[in-house]
Formats: sequence, C-alpha cells, structure tokens
Amino acid sequence: MTKQRETRDRVFDLIDRLGVGEAIPSERQLSAEFGVSRLTVRAALDNLVREGLLVRRRGSGTFVSEPKIAQELTMTSFTEDMRRRGMVPGSRTVELKSQPAGAWLGRILHVSPSDSVVVVKRVRLADHETMAIETLHVRASLVPGLSAADLESHSFYTLLSDRYGIDIVGGLQTIEPTVTNEEESELLGVPLHSPAFLFERTTRSSEGGIVEYVRSIYRGDRYRLVTELNRDVPRR
Ligand code: GLP
Repeated sequence: MTKQRETRDRVFDLIDRLGVGEAIPSERQLSAEFGVSRLTVRAALDNLVREGLLVRRRGSGTFVSEPKIAQELTMTSFTEDMRRRGMVPGSRTVELKSQPAGAWLGRILHVSPSDSVVVVKRVRLADHETMAIETLHVRASLVPGLSAADLESHSFYTLLSDRYGIDIVGGLQTIEPTVTNEEESELLGVPLHSPAFLFERTTRSSEGGIVEYVRSIYRGDRYRLVTELNRDVPRR
C-alpha cells in the first residue's frame, strides 16, 4: 500500500469517529502523528475533499462533511423521499408562469404547440438546506388554479392526487453528470461549476397520459445514486 493510501485510510477512520461538522487535526499534527510528510497528508486530504467526506473552510480548517444522501432510483416524490429519511422537506417557488408549449415541449407532453403549459421553478430543501432545483412543466388544463404558494406548502404529487385526482403510476428518468451554471449556483448556494446531477423525468398517469416533464439539478456534494442489483441466473 502506498504511503498516501495508508494516510487516507487512517484519516478515513478518524472521520468515522468524529461527528459531522467537527474539525480534523491540522496537516502538521497529522503528519507528526502518522510519521509521514505534510505533502502526503495534503494529498490524502485532497482526495477525501474530492470524495465529499471532508470540507475545507478557508482560514478555519478542514471539517467532516454531512454524509451524502443515497438516492435510490425509484418513482418517489422529493417530499416522500426526505420524510422517509427523517428530514423536513421544504420548497421555495422561484417562478411560476404559463406559456404556450411550443413544438419541443408539446412533443414531450403530448399536447399541441399552442396549448398552455405551467412552468414552475422550485428550490428543494431538506432541513432548511438546499438540495436541488426542479423545473416542472405540466399541461395547464390538468392543474387549474395551481399557485406558487400551493407548491411551497404541499407536495406536487399529493396535490395531483388529492386535488386533481391524478395518480402517477410510472415514467422515464434519465441522469447525466453536469456542473452548475451561474443561476443554479446562486440558487443552491454553491460555487460556480460545482458538480451536479441532471435528472429529467417524464411521468404518466393511471389513464396513460403524460403528466409532467421535470428537469432537476441535484447537488453532487449531497447525493450519490444507489441501485439494487438483481440477476436471474441463467439455467444450465
Ligand atoms: C422528485 C422528481 C420530480 C417530481 C417531484 C415531486 O423530486 N424528480 O420529477 O416532480 O419529486 O415532488 P413533490 O411531490 O415533493 O413536490
């Protein structure tokens, strides 16, 4: 095992014992304790910062970061997801507007280009911390009277089923790596060009129609994606 790898593993054990937000010892202290050069310590710490386990704050030191949220790739809503983890979900509506679908969105939502579509941009929060930006597109005739305030106090999926009698039963989701642009960085409170996941989801109702198209930017430092793997063993 290389010195750097060994140092990384020792710091990893240290992180395991410390709580979220606690400071780790300085590079000088760690290099004395582990009997390796400061350069080796710094390289190991850089590694752990990149992996999101540590966070550096200029002038004050290096701290244990919040563990990432293990996002399962299922059909849940943001609200359900956060509640299940014991976190308090929140939502801030940045913008709500109606506009003609146009050709591109019309094709996705299966409506004609002149049909009105409601577009809502929301910042999603968990325990008051920013997690994601979601831009929702839904045919206006499906959600009459939907307001910005509704979406700050209610889950969209709950509103759909309780107020509009629409149950989402399935859909398609794609995920791509990306980095935050200026607007996204500002809304999420992260540095420009921070790593993020771009989720795009199209869902359909029990009646078979397309309900929503959502484009979401999830913070890369707060999420990792998890899937359970099952395999049917071929018969011999
Ligand atoms: C997830 C999905 C979105 C969906 C949202 C609904 O975050 N990525 O496509 O619109 O959940 O969440 P809620 O019901 O909390 O508003």
